[in-house]
Amino acid sequence: MKLDDKIVVITGAARGLGAAMARQLAEQGARIALIDLKSDQLFETAKSLPGGDHHAVVASVSDEQQVEAAFAEIESRLGPVDVLINNAGITRDGLLLKVKDGEVVDRMSLEQWQQVIDVNLTGVFLCGRAAAEQMIRAGRRGVIVNISSISRSGNFGQTNYTASKAGNAAMTVSWAKELARYGIRAASVSPGFTATEMVAAMPDKAIDKITSGIPLKRLAEPDEIAATVRFIIENDYVNGRDFAVDGGLRL
Ligand code: NAI
Repeated sequence: MKLDDKIVVITGAARGLGAAMARQLAEQGARIALIDLKSDQLFETAKSLPGGDHHAVVASVSDEQQVEAAFAEIESRLGPVDVLINNAGITRDGLLLKVKDGEVVDRMSLEQWQQVIDVNLTGVFLCGRAAAEQMIRAGRRGVIVNISSISRSGNFGQTNYTASKAGNAAMTVSWAKELARYGIRAASVSPGFTATEMVAAMPDKAIDKITSGIPLKRLAEPDEIAATVRFIIENDYVNGRDFAVDGGLRL
């Protein structure tokens, strides 16, 4: 699919990977619909994009009514969706159980678990369903790209996040099988550690330790992940696969 004039919805587009994707795809002539919770940053990012015809919507991907309203607004403002990038995601890291001197002193709360599942898993489901419905109704071919993570194979301190990202990749395969008959492709990208605010929030010592374990000895740049998303959209034979872009970390 050529990106020129295509309508691309990106969730979590105010900053980080989502903003990098919005910039890179807008440079190729796409019209971007940006969804995020962070309104100030969202409108700033939307304004900074090359080309004029973009649209920003403040909504939470985990809220069914807000998602349905956002997709209806995007359709009436820009037209039916051609591409959805399910990028919004959060972390609420913590150990399942923290044990000191044989006593359990802390544990991952249900709230910690649920917040991550609501955004990273339910949000992907709600937006994917809304986008696919719009594509089918409009008789459009389409693409859904889900941003998973290399953490999907199980990460220390990330019970909630790991489960959500494994679910994300599995859901992608279901959609690749179910939706191909309507001309809709689905694929996921599993970024390694990428230089965004999400990673900047980690302690320097932890980032140094991670970086030393990456064969390329550096974090990914957001544009390198965005380039993978662009490849998936533009290559009509990609379907159902996950693309790990991690500098060799998981080799
Ligand atoms: P980030 O924290 O910089 O940006 C995430 C954006 O999502 C923020 O603008 C935030 O406001 C938005 N968001 C959060 N909850 C939302 C909700 N309920 N509704 C709408 N928007 C919401 O994160 P970053 O680093 O750009 O990550 C983007 C995606 O890439 C996430 O899914 C993350 O899990 C994934 N990822 C990131 C990696 C990294 O190293 N940065 C590595 C692997 C995956």
